[in-house]
Amino acid sequence: MSYSFLGCIECGKTYQLTDVRFTCNCGSMLDVRHDWAEVRKKYSLDRVQFDSSLHVNQQPAGGVWRFRRMVMPDLTDEEIVSKQEGNTRLYRSIKISAWTGCSNIYLKHEGENPTGSFKDRGMTVAVTQARALGQQAVTCASTGNTSASLAAYASEADMAGLVLIPKGSVAVGKISQALAYGAKTLVVDGDFDDCMRLIREAQEQLGAYPLNSINPFRLEGQKTIIWEALLQLQWKIPDWFVFPGGNLGNTSAFGKALHEAVELGWIEKMPRLAVIQAAGASPFYEAFTNGFQSMTPQKADTIATAIKIGNPVNYSKAIRSIRWTNGIVESVTDEEILEAKVHIDAAGIGAEPASCATVAGIKKLIGQGVIKEGEAVVGILTGNILKDPQVIVDYHFNKARPLANPPVEIRATIGDVAKILSERK
Ligand code: F0G
Repeated sequence: MSYSFLGCIECGKTYQLTDVRFTCNCGSMLDVRHDWAEVRKKYSLDRVQFDSSLHVNQQPAGGVWRFRRMVMPDLTDEEIVSKQEGNTRLYRSIKISAWTGCSNIYLKHEGENPTGSFKDRGMTVAVTQARALGQQAVTCASTGNTSASLAAYASEADMAGLVLIPKGSVAVGKISQALAYGAKTLVVDGDFDDCMRLIREAQEQLGAYPLNSINPFRLEGQKTIIWEALLQLQWKIPDWFVFPGGNLGNTSAFGKALHEAVELGWIEKMPRLAVIQAAGASPFYEAFTNGFQSMTPQKADTIATAIKIGNPVNYSKAIRSIRWTNGIVESVTDEEILEAKVHIDAAGIGAEPASCATVAGIKKLIGQGVIKEGEAVVGILTGNILKDPQVIVDYHFNKARPLANPPVEIRATIGDVAKILSERK
């Protein structure tokens, strides 16, 4: 029997998990839903069980599949396509606390996943489902990280991968990965929102199987970012989860994770979500400020190319998450993102620009008194520092930048080394 099904977030109509569909007949988005009462008859859903002793295919289960009974309860070990994603670190940093003014901050580094971003958490579940459905090929539109992750997991599952990326707007580390892992990479003369439109058309007209976050199985995997953080905090519930918003997949997944954590009796108090958008790509922030009466798509522009998105596809699910968690949405400028990045990098942690919107947002919300002194804040760093080396080089080679750390050229003599050493003293 199946414990899970697809359910419309508006009209409630349900469909079988094996139906290949991404919207309801009424046009609204679909969730993966689970019948917890039925799952509980067979499996323990008690939060104390999530130790590292769970295994998949004789491998440690990783941070997604340790929660398998709340993600895809029915699967057998053999069906799962996994690279042991998750189990990412939760950093403390005196330097970042001092810079943001947030004394009780944790940074969960999703850039430490197998392909360097949180996307792997969703990809393991969505590729598993794609294979279970007998799909031969998978596709996505991407600002870079989804394409890198898709390429790696498609290879693992021995499927053909096809990715669409916007010309001139994807960081070099990410394109390199898509090419290297073997996905067919189409560079589209348009922006991310054009790529996304093409993926929807390809799904409807050509039957291509999309692995963007319109695929509800992606979000089931991304829920585990929240659950794993709670586990690492030994279920001491933080006041805030702060993270960047682009296509709003994480916003949708995190709200669902917390809603289900309450349903399952794992937490009694609801933490608040704070979604941070780049000012040049902030349709969700604008909608939040008008009470979600409407969202006007934007022509997006930001240095944080991962979140350079003007028409987020998960808008309706994201509103639900903000309402479930009494959440908020804030925006930060590219200069604020860059400044935050220089500090995160110099703290020895490092992250790509979009991730640094998280820390810029925390600093701003502390400054506004929205996040109060002493409140526990979990900031999500979504992507690895090495994804976008160009932004780093451009900053540090520019001596006009206040915190620039440019390299120094010397002759091959010990005298030149000694001179630099003495200057540093
Ligand atoms: N941070 C990073 C590093 C990302 O790659 C993305 C999205 C986000 C934040 C925003 O997350 O879409 O769930 O709101 N990247 C997608 C991609 C769009 O194609 O790689 P979201």
